[in-house]
Amino acid sequence: MLKNLFPLPFLFVAVAAFAQNDWENPQLTGVNTLPPRSSAVVPFYNGNEKDCIMLNGEWKFDLVKKPADRIADFAKTDYDDSKWLNLPVPSNWHLPKFIGQLKEHAPNNLGGLVDDYPIYTNVQYPFPKEADGKWHPPQLPLDYNPVGMYRRDFELPAEYGLNGETIILHFAGVESMFYVWVNGEKVGMGKDSRTAVEFDITKYVKPGKNKIAVEVFRWSDGSWLECQDFWRLSGIYRDVFIYALPEKHISDVTVIAGLDENYKTGKIWVVAKIVKGTPVKIECNGMSADYGTANLENETAYMEVYVNNIKPWTAETPNLYSLTLTAGSQKITIPIGFRTTEIENGQLLVNGKPILIKGVNRHEHDPITGHTVSVESMIADIKLMKQNNINAVRTSHYPNDPRWYALCDKYGLYVIDEANIESHGMGYGNESLAKNPLFAEAHLDRTKRMYERDKNHPSIIIWSLGNEAGDGANFNATYDYLKKADPTRPVHYEQAKQGRNTDIFCPMYMRVGEMIKYAEGNPTKPLIQCEYSHAMGNSNGDFFKYWDAIRKYPALQGGFIWDWVDQGLMTDVPGKSGETYWAYGGDFGPAGVPSDGNFCCNGLVSADRIPHPGMNEVKKEYQNIWVERDENGGFKIRNENFFVPLDYVEGVFERIIDGQPAGSFQLTDLEKIGPLGTQSFFVPIGMQSFSMPAGHVEVQWLFRFTLKEDTPWGPKGHVVAWEQFPYRVYGNSVIDREHSPRLSITPQPDFWRAPTNNDKGSKFANRHGIWRTTPEGVKADLSFENGIVKLDFEKSADMIDPPRIGTRFTIPIEYDQVEYYGRGPDENYWDRKEGSPVGRYKTTVDEMFVKDYVDPGENGYRTDVRWVAFRNKEGNGFLFCSMPTADDIRARAADASPPVKGKLTPGTIAFGATRFSREDLEKSAHPYQLTVKNEIEVNIDLGQMGVGGDNSWGAQTHDEFRFKGTKYSLQYRVVALKPGDDPAALAR
Ligand code: GAL
Repeated sequence: MLKNLFPLPFLFVAVAAFAQNDWENPQLTGVNTLPPRSSAVVPFYNGNEKDCIMLNGEWKFDLVKKPADRIADFAKTDYDDSKWLNLPVPSNWHLPKFIGQLKEHAPNNLGGLVDDYPIYTNVQYPFPKEADGKWHPPQLPLDYNPVGMYRRDFELPAEYGLNGETIILHFAGVESMFYVWVNGEKVGMGKDSRTAVEFDITKYVKPGKNKIAVEVFRWSDGSWLECQDFWRLSGIYRDVFIYALPEKHISDVTVIAGLDENYKTGKIWVVAKIVKGTPVKIECNGMSADYGTANLENETAYMEVYVNNIKPWTAETPNLYSLTLTAGSQKITIPIGFRTTEIENGQLLVNGKPILIKGVNRHEHDPITGHTVSVESMIADIKLMKQNNINAVRTSHYPNDPRWYALCDKYGLYVIDEANIESHGMGYGNESLAKNPLFAEAHLDRTKRMYERDKNHPSIIIWSLGNEAGDGANFNATYDYLKKADPTRPVHYEQAKQGRNTDIFCPMYMRVGEMIKYAEGNPTKPLIQCEYSHAMGNSNGDFFKYWDAIRKYPALQGGFIWDWVDQGLMTDVPGKSGETYWAYGGDFGPAGVPSDGNFCCNGLVSADRIPHPGMNEVKKEYQNIWVERDENGGFKIRNENFFVPLDYVEGVFERIIDGQPAGSFQLTDLEKIGPLGTQSFFVPIGMQSFSMPAGHVEVQWLFRFTLKEDTPWGPKGHVVAWEQFPYRVYGNSVIDREHSPRLSITPQPDFWRAPTNNDKGSKFANRHGIWRTTPEGVKADLSFENGIVKLDFEKSADMIDPPRIGTRFTIPIEYDQVEYYGRGPDENYWDRKEGSPVGRYKTTVDEMFVKDYVDPGENGYRTDVRWVAFRNKEGNGFLFCSMPTADDIRARAADASPPVKGKLTPGTIAFGATRFSREDLEKSAHPYQLTVKNEIEVNIDLGQMGVGGDNSWGAQTHDEFRFKGTKYSLQYRVVALKPGDDPAALAR
């Protein structure tokens, strides 16, 4: 009964009261827009770009602060825009360089607004709450909601439209709502900012010169569903063009290219929507079957065919065939791929195989052009992903530029395509827009637009209903719509948890323990985390633990790392021309602008696509070839590809002595290792016997697999997988070696580190802050005698663990040439070192600094170090050597088989070296604020706690990567280095 307390008419009155403006009316999803259709029909996306009249390029632009300030007659053909700014399209007008230009342009700026700015917010909406402290969707602020006005001319060739063609104006992406006028007449309005909006402008245009005017609102009711955690930027930010379709034409095509039960015979099902009954020919190139001309039925051309011996599409085998539809002069070519996606017995299957999702989330971001992303940048992203063994992308959190999917089809990446719906700011309770009938149509419209535009891409294996938008009737409707429209793909929605609106259980940031619990509880849905391993700054610790579990339990099928790219905006360092930095939330706009700071920088790669060191770990855990010890003392090479044999790689087996390659053996017959197959390998006798230097020597085996040939995504020789095994340690412990005379360092006990983003998020300083200095009651006895530094540490059991156990001192700046034998070549930590092989590496103190962490903190560390040398240009310097005991050496041998992950190698040291003081790293918000010191701060440590990575808002470093004991000791030798000295020899 309660339900009827507010009878419907009352609701409508309320709606009407709020919905006076188009931009505050979610029930109005567009005006005069054409129905959404497959981008395959649009010449720009099907290889016929030359048939489009591009409207990219310079437009005249002006800006007002709020809808009430709009210039009423700006769309008139004779409006004088000569003094307006020239703004390139596509673009986001808030970007620093455009706003700078607008400011310079101020005297001519008739609209009067010269100071709009990028806003970055996460959960909160970018606009203020109402006076009652609440948000009231769909209401928007009256005093600040900038409107950009755009104008330009375009030429229409004389023959355009003469033969009854339909002339279509296509906007690939405009944020937020926009109105369009052609030759002074209002054509219509569009809303969903992430899918194409098209208008039939046939009756508005004329041959020759035409004028187009567009009004873009920074925020509209659409913004209530676009509360994604990213830069909130507006404008015409994707391509704009005009194209014509013949009078009789195909207006839309749906292709389903599946496989039969044996996954061998292809099955194509094509439906083409026909306008004005034209004959349609459907052909598929490169295949022997004859397709003939399709039957015409009620304005729909329909064809169903079976094709034998198909080469199916998978991310590993991106085989594409060309399907052509011809209707008079209209020719549509669609690259199609034969594949299936199913959920069966609680697993996600592609072509019948329970694939593993080695995924990332990707926002569309460019450090200079914001949300305008070039094809070159998309290709670069895909290559970098494939080179790092990433096989899947979730288009967080909206449909991407259509070319992205075509590239994923071509290069081979599995895609989750996500609808442009997030209303996180409203929470998940009763106020959630998922439950609000006023927003029902908008939910559906966005879902349909995504489906219709993207339905023909083989790379899309799963649809996503959106992100963080609660759950309720509106998602029941979108789920049901997708299941009906497309029975061939599963649907995923995180907020549905394990409920009806999702076919996959896709939580975010679930801990490994919980995943295991789920997997052991007879699950009916596969678990694929839609977000995990939060890559913010120095992160991605304990990554291997997820994958140990995923590889063990069939119900666990991988996940998508949050996320791919740091959303830094390249910005001039204040007061320093020519120097730039990665700006984040709060770096633009007036004081008090809503912001969530650097939380937009959670990428595995920097904004300009330089991988952060964490990528090494991801590449390793995501690799598709594994080597394991077998029961007979040999090795087993395991192919984790589901569809291809190891015929695409060369493999080498290397002997490494004290970090240096010393002999190798070419692996043979790898091509015989089929999908998911294994092969045994026994170390050849010749590789087991070798001569060695005297003293303490370590021998390791290294397997390396490289691309045999150039591929579309990586060059011949690119390392795709590796595995390293400790073999033997010869000689005794090095405790009793001779020592050099004392060198001029003054080591101090050190237990602290400059907090990382994960540390800050988990309030690490509150918990561990006592370790900034040596706390009272803690034993930290440090001696430096006869070249040996010794630290004896003891604390009571009830004290929190120290972040680090080590020693800190400075050395002169000239000793900045670093060479070491340990994990490398990049930064690594206790819980993130499995992707860094042990070897002998050279670097410099400056190179060790990870300058792309947008917010400085602990960085540049190296673990499992046997020795490290700091030298000057002449070769003089300091050598710090670990001093493994006989027990340590025994323990290493025990850990070697099978290799133990995530454990510091017994008897090693760890080190860091930087020209920035810890205190400076701790307090600076951007790297440019750091002061370069004229000396080097060195840490020689037993180690420091891992960096964590489960999330950056509370998760702590796992216990096994922390100094949870009460008693530790560290000792290392300090040796003076002379030019020509070999540190390895001195370390023996
Ligand atoms: C998730 C969200 C992402 C991002 C991430 C934290 O909750 O879906 O968009 O905000 O957390 O970086």
